[in-house]
Amino acid sequence: MNLHDCAFVCTDGNSVLSMKQSIQNQAGHPSGLIGKLFGWTMNVFNRTDNRWTIELLKLQPSDKLLEVGFGTGQAIEYAATKSKQGLIAGVDHSETMLATAAKRNTAAIAAGRVQLQLGEVEALPFADSFFDKACSINCIYFWEPPERGFAELRRVLKPGGTLAIVARHKQLDAHRQYTPEVIGALMKEAGFTEVVAQEGPGSRFPVFCVTGLA
Ligand SMILES: C[S@@+](CC[C@H](N)C(=O)[O-])C[C@H]1O[C@@H](n2cnc3c(N)ncnc32)[C@H](O)[C@@H]1O
Repeated sequence: MNLHDCAFVCTDGNSVLSMKQSIQNQAGHPSGLIGKLFGWTMNVFNRTDNRWTIELLKLQPSDKLLEVGFGTGQAIEYAATKSKQGLIAGVDHSETMLATAAKRNTAAIAAGRVQLQLGEVEALPFADSFFDKACSINCIYFWEPPERGFAELRRVLKPGGTLAIVARHKQLDAHRQYTPEVIGALMKEAGFTEVVAQEGPGSRFPVFCVTGLA
């Protein structure tokens, strides 16, 4: 049984609704013990997406990368193996995920190569034109409004910097649904150019990635 199936084990309509609401809340803002459990499922089901995204970005040793919504910090950990002299930064608005990701990346944080902090895509705590690359994986469903997140990402990227947004084709029912076309249009509206969509590696939950240049 996966987390989606969990929404249907209850028998009455109200319970189903509240269970769905609670799944959406936890996926969008994991907290406490249940949040840690969600973290465990992310580790299992999102590993391929996380690695694939970092490979797509073709990180150079001195690149500065930002990840929005790092969850348990899998992609951050992998990125830190690629960018040895640069900086891997992350923001996530969940304290539970910040603690989990910080534990996973303890050595790289101590070495100053990884910086993780609480934050929201809608108000990124960074100077203009700071990053070479940025990504967000399985997170865009929760941006409110998405236009604000894209404007912020464009602001903190250097001109010509790359943004990669990865999303599942089928999200949990309660999430905002996205297609490559919708994300591409949002990116163009925010001023990104050379916007291209591609399919992710085959997996139980198929994903796509839309990239563009700031
Ligand atoms: C479904 S998890 C995905 C985590 C990770 N990227 C992965 O694929 O394994 C979504 C993460 O994004 C974070 N998040 C959701 N909305 C956010 C926002 N507006 N700003 C920052 N983080 C956000 C959540 O706290 C959660 O850790």
